[in-house]
Amino acid sequence: MKLLLVLLFATVYAKHEEYSGWKSFYIKPSSHDQLKDLGNLISKLELDFYIHPSLDREGVVLVKPQYQDDFVKFVNEENMKYWIHADDVKIQLDNDDLMMESFQQEARSSKSSSFNYDKYHTLDVIYEYLDSVAQKHSDTVKLVTPATSYEGRTLKYLKISKDNFQSGKPVIFIDGATHAREWITIPTVTYAIHKLVENVTEPDLLDKFDWILYPVVNPDGYEHTHVKERMWRKTRSTDQHVAGKICRGVDINRNFDFEWNTVGTESHPCSDIFPGRKPFSEVETRVVHSIFNEHHQNMILYLSVHSFGSMFLYPWSNNGSLSDRGLQLHMVGIRMADVIHELSLKHFPRYRVGNTALVIDYFSSGSSSDYAHSIGVPLSYTVELPGRGSKGFVLHPRYIKPVVTETWAGFAAGARMAGQLFGSR
Ligand SMILES: *[C@@H]1O[C@H](CO)[C@@H](O)[C@H](O)[C@H]1NC(C)=O
Ligand SMILES: *[C@@H]1O[C@H](CO)[C@@H](O)[C@H](O)[C@H]1NC(C)=O
Ligand SMILES: [Zn+2]
Repeated sequence: MKLLLVLLFATVYAKHEEYSGWKSFYIKPSSHDQLKDLGNLISKLELDFYIHPSLDREGVVLVKPQYQDDFVKFVNEENMKYWIHADDVKIQLDNDDLMMESFQQEARSSKSSSFNYDKYHTLDVIYEYLDSVAQKHSDTVKLVTPATSYEGRTLKYLKISKDNFQSGKPVIFIDGATHAREWITIPTVTYAIHKLVENVTEPDLLDKFDWILYPVVNPDGYEHTHVKERMWRKTRSTDQHVAGKICRGVDINRNFDFEWNTVGTESHPCSDIFPGRKPFSEVETRVVHSIFNEHHQNMILYLSVHSFGSMFLYPWSNNGSLSDRGLQLHMVGIRMADVIHELSLKHFPRYRVGNTALVIDYFSSGSSSDYAHSIGVPLSYTVELPGRGSKGFVLHPRYIKPVVTETWAGFAAGARMAGQLFGSR
């Protein structure tokens, strides 16, 4: 075992060079003023929040080497609580790789299923899975390939329905990997596919609803996190800015035409929250938009799956106001959170449910869930999956199975309740 680990280490240690010297910090502001001051620092110090802090829960922020002194000076002056999350992000990522590899070795020897939930798959394997499900279950599953990504990869999602969406049933739409580094979101969406057509234990879900499942909204970014920068978040476009070749990509979740570029964005293309040169500038955003366009009249529930932080967040993100669906949004959110809580591993935090801007004390614009709600999808959420089980950034693969099963139970309960509330719109 030792030898194996040494060999593995030799193969992975040269990766993640670009994160050499980066640090990540837990940070826990204790007042609204501190939260605001921290917010004002984002663009100056190019801070990248893995989770935004709130008054009752700490956040995690990545800080580049050249800004670490300024950052520490700021938090000390503010008297803000902070502590080290990863002292050297490169080493943390190397260790994560190592841990994953050795876990996967064990998983491989114990069983060999084609598409399993013991590891994070590459894009090729995920796409093969989508193709094969569509082929094997052609009576209910339709593979849609609406466009190619900026770098020329096929964009793929599945439509699952007993009658090819003909009878106008309520539609439920779930997507993942809008943000490339949020790997756990992909198995969460493929598991929904699995439970709807491969291991059907709840046939009512396909009797009552039509489903759209889009596991990898941002395949270019996802591929990039495998081969180059593990912490990549955005698309990989270069035409988004005059400096686009130096700093690529757009944050898809700031690129929708909802209060676009008004708050919680950065106009610098190197920023991780760069909203693009105009709304829907990215083909990856336009494909999600086209799904809303085609189905918004019947769509009763949209779940945009992200990681991490254990939260169900709902509109409006730009100003913290509630929409006239506020009560239903909260009730269905609580229902999903309760069902998950019943099944959840005890060391995952309990889900929080609320308005995005109020829960994380941070306003943002141009998100897909706000956009969907603004065009009439009554129940629309950003879901932040749990991620605190491990010390590293990467949710250990041993948690994939528990996370996808608990999350699916929550989503299924949410779907049923959505059906009761809005099924006969
Ligand atoms: C199908 O799902 C049920 C419940 O979710 C589970 O108990 C069972 O083991 C699964 N069967 C297979 C073949 O995976
Ligand atoms: C907050 O934003 C939403 C969406 O744009 C808008 O409908 C609402 O009126 C705003 N609320 C306030 C108090 O400005
Ligand atoms: Zn995200």
